[in-house]
Amino acid sequence: MKVVSTLSELRSARKDLPDPFGLVPTMGFLHEGHLSLVRQAKQECRSVGVSIYVNPTQFAPTEDLEAYPCDLEHDLVLLEGAGADLVWTPSTGELYPPGAQTWVTVEQLTQVLEGAQRPGHFRGVTTVVAKLFNAFEPQRAYFGQKDAQQARVIQRMVKDLLIPSEVIVCPIVREPDGLAMSSRNTYLKGPERGAATVLNRALREAQASFRSGVRAAEELRKTMRKILDHEPLAQTQYVSVADPDTLIELEGEIERALLSMAVYVGKTRLIDNILLVPEEG
Ligand code: PAJ
Repeated sequence: MKVVSTLSELRSARKDLPDPFGLVPTMGFLHEGHLSLVRQAKQECRSVGVSIYVNPTQFAPTEDLEAYPCDLEHDLVLLEGAGADLVWTPSTGELYPPGAQTWVTVEQLTQVLEGAQRPGHFRGVTTVVAKLFNAFEPQRAYFGQKDAQQARVIQRMVKDLLIPSEVIVCPIVREPDGLAMSSRNTYLKGPERGAATVLNRALREAQASFRSGVRAAEELRKTMRKILDHEPLAQTQYVSVADPDTLIELEGEIERALLSMAVYVGKTRLIDNILLVPEEG
């Protein structure tokens, strides 16, 4: 596994690797969720590259950029084990050349859900991911369903900008108690860790209602809220039953939906989601 930091080192290492090449963009502090993307890429591609970069432009000034956890040494051990061929740890100076003023914006999909709560977040994500596509020139790129809206937004960007890469969305990896794996789970202290399972419990309860025949979007939202409200350490930011393609909030009878939520457990902001599809009914 080759580890490089400059853009010219990256381009020359990439040239030596066989196609199809799969890219897994990350912000490091890797866990099984990230590694599942690397393993799937390894199965489907002849070589695999990973980027580790905590992208400042996707964090608002009030967010956790400074506190974002990192452990590069451990990340590299994990990536070697998962079969990565190339790792890029770029500098901000190279990803954002001095005087940079070019941004990539996906307009409508970013107005709702995470985009509504975190203005400017997706502009940062799409801009850095577009740069990563240009740097690695991957045939395929792997993203997690954990960040469902991010995956949709990137699929839209790739389509709209005629980027010659296929976006592959991989399932959410969870802890044994259902908590979706996240680098931010490390912020959870004491009883917060147990309380954090409330997101998955709320999603599962709504899924069970859907499977037993409940079709009203309002009912499903109510079911999730009730469970979340019951957890004293949790404070709900939003609960959504949305169209999985447009991400627009649904009303009345639904056939399929993306259920998603953002919830503070103590000071830690967690997100989770589940896709409901007709054959589940
Ligand atoms: P990061 O949060 O490090 O996540 C990197 C990738 O891992 C994303 O595609 C994310 O959806 C996926 N992932 C995280 N937790 C997961 C889990 N429990 N199961 C499956 N996949 C999971 O997302 C970002 O970084 C950044 O926004 C990035 C795309 C790198 C741009 O800066």
